[in-house]
Amino acid sequence: MKKLTLIPGDGIGQEVVLGTKQIIDSLGLNIQWDIVTNPMNDKKRISEELEKSLSITKVGLKGPLTTPIGDGFRSINVEIRKRFELFANVRPIKTLQGFKTNYKDLDMIIIRENTEDLYAGKELEIAKGVTQSMKIVTTAASDRVAKFAFQYALENKRKKITVLHKANIMKLTDGLFLDRVRRISRRKIYKDIEYEELIIDNACMQLVMNPNRFDIILTGNLFGDIVSDLCAGLVGGLGAASGANLGSNYAVFEPVHGTAPDIAGKGIANPLATILSSIMMLNHIGMKDGAIKLNKAVLYTLSFPENRMRDMGGKLKTKDFINRIISNIKD
Ligand SMILES: NC(=O)c1ccc[n+]([C@@H]2O[C@H](COP(=O)([O-])OP(=O)(O)OC[C@H]3O[C@@H](n4cnc5c(N)ncnc54)[C@H](O)[C@@H]3O)[C@@H](O)[C@H]2O)c1
Repeated sequence: MKKLTLIPGDGIGQEVVLGTKQIIDSLGLNIQWDIVTNPMNDKKRISEELEKSLSITKVGLKGPLTTPIGDGFRSINVEIRKRFELFANVRPIKTLQGFKTNYKDLDMIIIRENTEDLYAGKELEIAKGVTQSMKIVTTAASDRVAKFAFQYALENKRKKITVLHKANIMKLTDGLFLDRVRRISRRKIYKDIEYEELIIDNACMQLVMNPNRFDIILTGNLFGDIVSDLCAGLVGGLGAASGANLGSNYAVFEPVHGTAPDIAGKGIANPLATILSSIMMLNHIGMKDGAIKLNKAVLYTLSFPENRMRDMGGKLKTKDFINRIISNIKD
């Protein structure tokens, strides 16, 4: 029996995560869920409930959590990634049947450094009307995510890694990141993986003009966050974009999208991104047969035009989409 942490989260998280749980339960795997309803405590930090659950299970499926814009408390999402040293954020970008897109057959992976950069959250007002945000980049964190990316490429038979940076302006911080990635790229074991460097602004233009030229994208925390949503748009939107936060001891799987307050509670949120994240989770914990079975059911369901959700140009509701996937799970 495998015990897993489930964090339904806020907004549409409740609909898409609990719906995904229903699907996984229908696979008949030996999984027991520890459901964390309060990931945040009164002090707006990681709750004891979440801390305890993840330290036991080591693996979680998480919905999005609200972060106030401009003022208010700091992001719990960022805190979870730092606290559990989930240093690599892996986001597959793959064309799926059913989504309207301008591009064909996209298949790339974004690997984002997940623990530092401007997301260190070190901000201060140094004088009235003058604010400062600290960008932190270290050799250790750059090395570990670079090694992770090259190892990932090797194990998943990927051919090329493109590192996105702004080292022409941020010479020290992005300069260090680039230098460490470059060093790792020169290791003999990675000689068959093509290595490329692109300045982030040029990369954004190329992603829109010719996204098929990319295979694995490796970048820092802020650029990775922005480029992930851009790339989700290339394959039809946030409804399709899954993700994993991976570290040496813990793993938390979650969709790229947020709480979508504009559609929360309406029963129209697309659960696909969370379902795809759960397939990544099943693979991660070694339940490969379950992952294959669910993946087949998802692809089969998507092959019918009547199974389209609103963000795919259809009318299906969240619950109906979930039920159709469950009914398409075959032994
Ligand atoms: N990992 C996380 O927990 C995470 C990630 C991103 C944003 N957030 C938080 O979510 C909140 C809202 O952020 P936002 O509005 O910028 O981004 P968002 O991703 O919540 O929504 C952006 C747009 O995409 C649509 N959308 C998102 N997911 C969808 C889905 N599954 N199906 C159909 N449509 C979907 C929304 O309706 C909205 O129009 C903020 O508090 C933000 O901090 C959390």
